[in-house]
Amino acid sequence: MHLDLPILDQPTPSLAIQPLVGNGKKVYVETYGCQMNINDSEIVLGVMHAEGYMPTDSSDDADVILLNTCAIRDNAERRIHERLFHLKHTKKTNSDLVVGVLGCMAERLRAKLLDTQLVDIVVGPDEYRRMPELVAEAMGGDRGIAVKLSRVETYDDIVPLRTEGISAWISIMRGCDKFCTFCVVPFTRGRERSRPLTSVVDEAKQLWDQGFKEITLLGQNVNSYRDDVGGYDFADLLASTARAVPKMRIRYSTSHPQDMSDKLIDTMAEWDNICKYIHLPVQSGSNRILELMNRTYTVEHYLSRIRRIKHVMPNCAMSTDIIAGFCTETEDDHQRTLDVMREVRYEGAYMFAYSPRENTKAWKMGDDVPDEVKNRRLIEIIELQRIISGELNQTEPGTVHPVLVEGPSKRNAAEWRGRTDTNKTVVFTHDGTRGYIVGDTINVKIDRAGSGTLFGELV
Ligand code: SAH
Ligand code: SF4
Ligand code: F3S
Repeated sequence: MHLDLPILDQPTPSLAIQPLVGNGKKVYVETYGCQMNINDSEIVLGVMHAEGYMPTDSSDDADVILLNTCAIRDNAERRIHERLFHLKHTKKTNSDLVVGVLGCMAERLRAKLLDTQLVDIVVGPDEYRRMPELVAEAMGGDRGIAVKLSRVETYDDIVPLRTEGISAWISIMRGCDKFCTFCVVPFTRGRERSRPLTSVVDEAKQLWDQGFKEITLLGQNVNSYRDDVGGYDFADLLASTARAVPKMRIRYSTSHPQDMSDKLIDTMAEWDNICKYIHLPVQSGSNRILELMNRTYTVEHYLSRIRRIKHVMPNCAMSTDIIAGFCTETEDDHQRTLDVMREVRYEGAYMFAYSPRENTKAWKMGDDVPDEVKNRRLIEIIELQRIISGELNQTEPGTVHPVLVEGPSKRNAAEWRGRTDTNKTVVFTHDGTRGYIVGDTINVKIDRAGSGTLFGELV
C-alpha cells in the first residue's frame, strides 16, 4: 500500500550536538496486510523520524526501503517475494540502498529472509524500537535480524507519524490468544496485550485537536480488550472514548463473536458517535467446521448475537470474513455457510479460499478439499454476497445519511465522496457553493445505488 506522507522539511529538533543517526536519510515504507500493519508503519516512521530519518513517498529516491508484510495466506507472502525480486534491480543501481522486511512475514520466516542476500534487515512486529539502530548498522554493512516477541510491548509512548487526512488508526491492543487452528497471527504477533484505557482516550483527544474526524480502534479481537489495572473492558473503552471526543466518529475492528457482549452492543446503541457498523467474522456456517477451526462459538451463538444487534440497532450494517474449503469441508458444510449469509444478509464480506499455513494446527489436519472444489465454493460465496450487497444497496434510494466528507471523487471533479456511518461510500454533486469542506458531516439523500457505491444529493 502506498502511503501519502506529510511533507516534513526538517527532522524533529534535538538537543544533541551530534547529528541524529538518520541525518536526513530518506525512508520509504510499503505496507501490506491488515489495518494494524498500516498503523504499525506509522509507528515505524514515528520511531525513524525521531532519529532524523525523513519519510518519502517514492521508492526511487529512498535510502531505505521497508516492506511491512503480511503472512496470513500463501498469496500474501508470494506478493512480497515478487516485490523483493523487483527490488533486485533497484539495489543493483544503488548499492547503498538498505532493504528491510518487517511485520508478520519477517516474524514467520526470520533468518530465511536473509538467505537471498537482497534483504538487509528483518524486523518482527514487537521490535520496531530497534529500527534506527538496525538501519544504521545495515548502512555500515552489517545485516541484522530482530524478531523477539514481547508480552508487554504496545508502543504506547510512540507517536505514530500519521498520513494526512481525517481518519486515524489507533491500536488499542496487540497479539492474539485465540489460536484459531488455521491462523498464523498468534505466532507472528505473539500474546495478547492491551494498552491502558487512559492512554487510548488521551490519544483520541489529541487526534481530535489535530483535526482528525474519525478514528478506528484496532486489534485482532478488540472485544477481548482488558485494562486490568482499571478493571475496564472494551465497552468501557468505547464509552470513555465516545464521551471524551463526542464529535469524533468512532469505529473499531475486528471483533470476535465469542466476546460480542450485550454490554458492548448496548454501548454502541447509546452513543451517536459510535458508528453503526460491525465487522463480525463468521468463517463458516457449519458447527463441525467451526469446532475444527477452534472458533469457540456455534452458529446458534453467532446468530443470537446478530439478532441482539439488529434488535437494539435495526440499521446496524454487518460485514464478515468467510473461509471456503477448510479441511474436511463437505458440500453440506458449504451449504450451511451460504445459509448463514442468506440469514444475516451482510452488507459486505471478505471471502477467502483456505490457505494452509505451516506450523498451525490445521496444517497437520491436511488440505483435502481439492483446489477446484474450493474455488467453486468460493465463487458461489462471492456471487451470493454480490447479490445480497446489491439488494441491500437497492433499498437505500430515498434514505438520508450523515456523510463524513472525504474529498473529490476519483472519477469526476464535479463530484465529491464521503462515507456513511454504516461504512458505505457515497458520491454527491459538488459545485463549490454548498459551503462544506473535507471533514464536515453533511446529510445526503441517496437517489441511486451503483454496484458498490451510492449516489445522492446534499439536503
Ligand atoms: N482476528 C480476526 C481476523 C484476522 S485475519 C478475527 O478473528 O476475526 C483476517 C481473516 O483472514 C480471517 O478472518 C480469516 O477469514 C482469514 N484467514 C486467516 N487465516 C487464513 C487462512 N489460513 N486461509 C484463508 N483465510 C484465512
Ligand atoms: Fe487469527 Fe483467530 Fe486470532 Fe483472528 S481470532 S487473529 S483468526 S487466531
Ligand atoms: Fe497479515 Fe499480520 Fe495483519 S498476518 S492480516 S499483517 S496481523
